[in-house]
Amino acid sequence: MSIVSDRHSSDVYELVKDHIANLSQTPKFTPEQQQAYKDKIKALLVEHNAVLVAHYYTDPVVQALAEETGGCVSDSLEMARFGRDHDADTLIVAGVKFMGETAKILTPEKRVLMPTLEATCSLDLGCPADEFAEFCDQHPDRTVVVYANTSAAVKARADWVVTSSIALDVVDYLDSRGEKIIWAPDKHLGGYVAEQTGADIILWDSACIVHEEFKAKGIEDLKALYPDAAVLVHPESPKSVVALADVVGSTSQLINAAKTLPNKQCIVATDQGIFYKMQQMAPDKELYIAPTAGSGATCRSCANCPWMAMNELESLSKVFERDDNEIFVDPELGKQAMKPLQRMLDFAKVAG
Ligand code: 13P
Ligand code: SF4
Repeated sequence: MSIVSDRHSSDVYELVKDHIANLSQTPKFTPEQQQAYKDKIKALLVEHNAVLVAHYYTDPVVQALAEETGGCVSDSLEMARFGRDHDADTLIVAGVKFMGETAKILTPEKRVLMPTLEATCSLDLGCPADEFAEFCDQHPDRTVVVYANTSAAVKARADWVVTSSIALDVVDYLDSRGEKIIWAPDKHLGGYVAEQTGADIILWDSACIVHEEFKAKGIEDLKALYPDAAVLVHPESPKSVVALADVVGSTSQLINAAKTLPNKQCIVATDQGIFYKMQQMAPDKELYIAPTAGSGATCRSCANCPWMAMNELESLSKVFERDDNEIFVDPELGKQAMKPLQRMLDFAKVAG
């Protein structure tokens, strides 16, 4: 395994730090205001035959609203499947932009709205389609596998799209066929996949600004306090953090681990939005967020994705009023991107 792209995650860090500095703080509402927003959103969903599809990292209030209204709270793979299979005319995607784009690619006939299209992802930002296409062109003998956290244009250049819940299985399968791989954009997840499968992989150099903040030292210190705790780690985290894990997995795999492991305590290295569902599924467990080095100016990026946090009640309540929050994907590009996405969905079906 080697990192051969000339893009460096530090470039993206600078970009992202600027972006975070310009974000407004999530407004806090009184319980009455919160209820008024929720009532308004519920009525709008019915009026527009719309359904709310939310990621585990969004605000717990948004996740609860999705549940109360017959929508879904899940990982990115299940969000894609749920939106595709639901008979609503409009999907309201509470997550980040690539999730809205994936929904649109899978069901171009549906209207896909998001609370804000500014909700992006450092991995998506760190993998511009033109630079990525050049990179792929330099390695024409390799199968191109991209993480779901990418733009429609990057997906359109790929042979396979994977989410973290299925990455190992897909790469293992490709490796068994003797295929050499280009992996993008997350170097930590790609490195983990390469190590686990032994596949010949070259990596794009990008990272998630949230997971990259977890520090092995902080987890070791917490483990000293709770020696019997299980350490659950999302594979977007650095190698030194993954090395301490009892379970490495996607968001849904980590929730399942919290539920099924015998340990009373779990130290969790992923976005803290996950605690809403994790605690619901494992009510008797004590859950601790893995420490990050973050304090001070950039601490909102630590274990709390600043883009996921943009999905708040006020913007959701205005989702039908705005004219700048609908997802459009060029139909030709969408058709191209659909092929690697469909491969993943077909693979997931067979793999169960
Ligand atoms: P999942 O695919 O596990 O939902 O993760 C998406 C993500 O953005 C993780 O940071
Ligand atoms: Fe992207 Fe990281 Fe946020 Fe997930 S947590 S959406 S990978 S920036």
